[in-house]
Amino acid sequence: MDKAKATANIEACMTRISDIVAEYSQQEWALIPLLQKIQNEFGYIPPQSIPIIAKNLRLFTSQVQGVISFYAQLYTEPRGRHVVRVCRGTACHVRGGKTILKLVKRHLMIDEGQTTPDLEYTLETVACIGVCALAPNIVISDRVFGHMNPKKVELLLRKGEE
Ligand code: FES
Repeated sequence: MDKAKATANIEACMTRISDIVAEYSQQEWALIPLLQKIQNEFGYIPPQSIPIIAKNLRLFTSQVQGVISFYAQLYTEPRGRHVVRVCRGTACHVRGGKTILKLVKRHLMIDEGQTTPDLEYTLETVACIGVCALAPNIVISDRVFGHMNPKKVELLLRKGEE
């Protein structure tokens, strides 16, 4: 599904969003569970839902946006089916992590923080995955791949396309 279709789907789903929000009507304390519920259902928090949430919980739109930006696990952009995280930690960096990141960017044709137009991949970087002995590392859909090299990058990302 491309971004245009995803946006059209969200427009069609505004009724569902209003139903979810209505379940938490005027319960200020429920902001985070409500945001999580919307994200679980849609994969992200559609920006169009923010004024509806704010109105129903008697909050300012800026308060809702503030909470969303505070929590790194809440997203206002559609995410890819696979999240690719390239480690930028010191151990990975000295063992070629920068090149691995460059190759992943080139292969996916996106930058850090972006999602491919077909919504297959989102690319992120992380400070350290915690398996420095296997550096350089990447994580795809929560699975760690160590000792990365250009050939492995290509094989892994091609495999994900199947
Ligand atoms: S620096 Fe990459 S896993 Fe620790």
